[in-house]
Amino acid sequence: MTRVPSLVVRAARPDEGATISVLWRELWDAHEAWGGYAGSRDSSVYASLAQRLSEDARVRGGQPILGRHIHLVAVLGGVVIGQVEGWFERHGVDEATPFTCEVRSLVVSSRARACGAGRALLDTLASVARGLSRGAPVVLAAEVLSPNPAYAFYTRVGYVPVSWAARVATDGAAESSPFMEPYLARVAHPSDALPVALLDPALAARRRSHGDVRFDRPRAIDATFVGGLAAHLAKSEDGCASELVAVDRGGFIRASASLTVMTLEAPFVPTRRGLLSRFAMDPSVDPRPLVGVLVRLGRRLARARGALTLELTDLDPPGQLLHEGVMRTGATPWSRIVERFA
Ligand SMILES: CC(C)(COP(=O)(O)OP(=O)(O)OC[C@H]1O[C@@H](n2cnc3c(N)ncnc32)[C@H](O)[C@@H]1OP(=O)(O)O)[C@@H](O)C(=O)NCCC(=O)NCCS
Repeated sequence: MTRVPSLVVRAARPDEGATISVLWRELWDAHEAWGGYAGSRDSSVYASLAQRLSEDARVRGGQPILGRHIHLVAVLGGVVIGQVEGWFERHGVDEATPFTCEVRSLVVSSRARACGAGRALLDTLASVARGLSRGAPVVLAAEVLSPNPAYAFYTRVGYVPVSWAARVATDGAAESSPFMEPYLARVAHPSDALPVALLDPALAARRRSHGDVRFDRPRAIDATFVGGLAAHLAKSEDGCASELVAVDRGGFIRASASLTVMTLEAPFVPTRRGLLSRFAMDPSVDPRPLVGVLVRLGRRLARARGALTLELTDLDPPGQLLHEGVMRTGATPWSRIVERFA
């Protein structure tokens, strides 16, 4: 590999919007080729993106940080050849949980790859994120679509996979199948708050066991947590986000998952995106039939809310029972989350 001494990573400048929008187009075209959501082909979409990027750079005044958003470009010989965004946040309430900087829209122009720009963008992003956290631990997390060769790049620069996702079409959900017996899925009510809350430590332990440190450690379930969850369940019963539960023959809740349907906007072709995440399972039972009924209901609800596909996120690695249960629903591998400390 040739390291290029004149490579600079910095905030974007107002006159660079058009060049950066070309990088976005390259990224969305590549995403689509890997089976991701389609990017727009409409040049007016990219013209307005260019304008927005220039305006954004003007507002930032040479600083990569605007609120919780970080934007960096890599410049070679005066020309922008790469970019990355970071979204800085903290999941959960535990002070010991590291901050998360989500790595988004990393791209280096195909003419400028293998010169160290991708690594330099991530290194600078890590240092900006460390500055934002004022010394507290920060973990960088990126989602890599399954067929994307960038997975090897992330491995090379020290990221490890910690969470997996699959995707399934929302049509054709099976009525029932013998392996889903004896469970039924339904939307959770506020009165389910306590049993749903009691599943939370199992989800937290599962995430940590795979090295995903973005979320809180298992915690004691207290009245404040249950009350907050009941309020959340009351709000989400009829919205675009719902909590689903799997119930056994005795009426006991054995698993839960969160369904969200959102609209993807330009530069994507506007489309509805369905996500079923936070699979929290009773660790004393086989998760495969539980996940089977949750996915079946998730597909139906997501379809009714306009999504043609449903991403099943927050999964264990392939080979484990939860993953196997998801694959039995007809899902195919979709992406991995890779992480490293900044
Ligand atoms: C992924 C991407 C950003 C890498 O950028 P890059 O500038 O070529 O990467 P670098 O030159 O900094 O490479 C850093 C290291 O990763 C290795 N690497 C880069 N791409 C690789 C690949 N496809 N397979 C294996 N190793 C790879 C390099 O050899 C280098 O290793 P070294 O430092 O030990 O020699 C670039 O390929 C790209 O834009 N791809 C399309 C968009 C994309 O996939 N973005 C990520 C979305 S999650």
